[in-house]
Amino acid sequence: MSHETNPLLIPLHVSYIQNLGKNKNDLIYHLTAHLRMNAIYWGLTALCTMNHREALDRDEMIDYVMSCWDEETGGFGAHPDHDAHILSTLSAIQILVTQDAIGRLDIDRVVKFILSLQQPSGVFAGDSFGEIDTRFSYIAVNALSLLGRLGDLDVEKTVSYIAQCRNFDGGFGSRIGAESHAGQVFVCCAALTILDRLDEIDTPTLSWWLAERQLPNGGLNGRPEKLEDVCYSFWVLASLSMLKKVHYIDSDKLISFILSAQDPEGGGIADRPGDMPDVFHTHFGIAGLSLLGYPGLVDIDPVYCMPAALIETLGLRKGWQSLERRMR
Ligand code: FPP
Ligand code: ZN
Repeated sequence: MSHETNPLLIPLHVSYIQNLGKNKNDLIYHLTAHLRMNAIYWGLTALCTMNHREALDRDEMIDYVMSCWDEETGGFGAHPDHDAHILSTLSAIQILVTQDAIGRLDIDRVVKFILSLQQPSGVFAGDSFGEIDTRFSYIAVNALSLLGRLGDLDVEKTVSYIAQCRNFDGGFGSRIGAESHAGQVFVCCAALTILDRLDEIDTPTLSWWLAERQLPNGGLNGRPEKLEDVCYSFWVLASLSMLKKVHYIDSDKLISFILSAQDPEGGGIADRPGDMPDVFHTHFGIAGLSLLGYPGLVDIDPVYCMPAALIETLGLRKGWQSLERRMR
């Protein structure tokens, strides 16, 4: 089906996102409590990309975010009374930055929480329980960068761990020795981009590995032999965008694949056609369409996965050292 006969159903996706938080008696609402903060970031960013940022109540959102702050550790949980985690802390910061409410944060305490999670090897843990993953390294780098506090980070140690996760195929894994995976490629490339260390990437080898993620039906997978999945539209395209190789993907075929995973009745986008939609795949599908220049969408920044104009205003893509020198 062409994009003209199956366009992006913007009004339907806007109401799908608006309705997500409404039925608090819903089982799904309770089952997803551990993802609530992330879900708000995904929903808000998808709305911004569709140019409907005002569709969710700003004050209610900011109050919810602040109710998840854990005074004891200085980080944010996904839900009030949940333990603080580095992922919900990044989502909280992203929401407050997008809503121009960063003044509500005790920045020193949040920075301290994030830095407390760095391990002697240079990788970050997600929380005090200690699971380590290059995802958490990206999250730390992204969050500190949004707060203008990369100057507090041991950059060499952080980069050194990520560099050791590089594999023979040019990709990156979740930890040293782990297989390449497009989600991990995204987080490692994005962290290295923010830290201005793209020299650690084998661009030709990795670009080909990423291009090979496109399957005959147009969709992208995360690893060889896996099924296509809408969220990989973002993980793969954003990585290619940092390597300046988006043209390695057949964009018409990928646009058609993403659009075919829309739910034309209730709105939202699923991982693949015919599956149940969710806000994660809705957000990353729309973000992928934005990176492909789909008409009517606001540009998304491939490194921060937030509106490009906002990242531009914050001056974050101009080299963090000179930026932080100016802020001091
Ligand atoms: C695959 O997920 C995705 C990743 C490994 C990357 C996830 C990145 C973050 C959580 C960092 C925050 C991101 C942004 C944009 C701010 P999966 O576990 O579903 O993989 P699978 O497809 O193999 O199941
Ligand atoms: Zn997915």
